[in-house]
Amino acid sequence: MITTALTKLLGIRVPVVQGGMQWVGKPPLPAAVSNAGGLGLITALTQPDPEALRTVIRETRAATDKPFGVNLTILPSINPPDYEGFARVAVEEGVKIFETAGNNPGKLIEFFKSHGCIVIHKCTTIRHAKSAERLGVDVVSIDGFECAGHPGEEDIGGLVLLARAAQELKIPYIASGGIGDSRGLAACLALGAAGVNMGTRFMCTVESPIHQNIKEKIVASTEYDTTHIFRTLNNTSRVFKNVVSQQVVAIERRPGGAKFEDVRDLVAGARGRIVFENGDPDYGIWTAGLVLGLIKDIPTCEELLSRIERETEEIIGGMAKLVKAKAKL
Ligand SMILES: Cc1cc2nc3c(=O)[nH]c(=O)nc-3n(C[C@H](O)[C@H](O)[C@H](O)COP(=O)(O)O)c2cc1C
Repeated sequence: MITTALTKLLGIRVPVVQGGMQWVGKPPLPAAVSNAGGLGLITALTQPDPEALRTVIRETRAATDKPFGVNLTILPSINPPDYEGFARVAVEEGVKIFETAGNNPGKLIEFFKSHGCIVIHKCTTIRHAKSAERLGVDVVSIDGFECAGHPGEEDIGGLVLLARAAQELKIPYIASGGIGDSRGLAACLALGAAGVNMGTRFMCTVESPIHQNIKEKIVASTEYDTTHIFRTLNNTSRVFKNVVSQQVVAIERRPGGAKFEDVRDLVAGARGRIVFENGDPDYGIWTAGLVLGLIKDIPTCEELLSRIERETEEIIGGMAKLVKAKAKL
């Protein structure tokens, strides 16, 4: 068994978190991840309102007696969702672990901490990690440039970000972005992380509630199949490279650039949701990371996590053999 600050804090067996995923983090996936020994997270904003979140928390609890949590992502939005309502309902339902992400999470972190909850805050810079530490979060999840979704605007890869986290942070941190197998987990532990967070890899599991065509598309894809949209709008997002995302990038590159209004219809969240429902990978924008290149199968969460656990132990054991005792003089 691999024991880290994360496994001890959360009461889980394998130091792997399934990150919040819009349209994907519905009960079957977090329940399966938690049952397999990791930490599953329900994605709050996939639900239309706080009462719907209450229902899916109950469904998840019925499907697992292991720890699970809720992701609450604060996005720039013209009509912001009822963040406080989602947070209140989750706490009322007895959820004890939260992943926060996005801008200005201070009030939410304060709310969760005042109710005795564990908070994992996901961020993309050491500066934000240190302010989350000051706000009292328990763990920071450091999303490197490789990640699916929002990598920030600084383009620092996980290798340097994690080593910087080791230099700067006092609280435990986990690595996020580009991790899909035991090599990734072992490397992140070597970089001082207490575990890893995975998104894209968990999308491509039996229990992931998305269309089989998209899972097969992930398996057939490589590390060259993502692109960054919204670079010119300072809100970069790594997504699957398809007809729609390439159109968005072309509009952004037009002389004079683009405003959000110019791409609004192309990037509509509803179209992305339909990709996962109808299985057409070109229907809209959908999020995926560079780790696409490492994904070669569609395992159950149990198969995936057992494999990662077993192989990581082998890698760590193998590395220990590289160290030879010095001959005594
Ligand atoms: C389909 C999809 C949707 C995502 N939606 C969210 C989200 O709503 N909130 C969030 O904090 N992160 C979201 N993420 C990011 C993941 O939680 C995680 O940080 C990221 O996937 C890590 O990179 P990886 O895909 O290389 O493992 C999403 C990722 C994917 C693949």
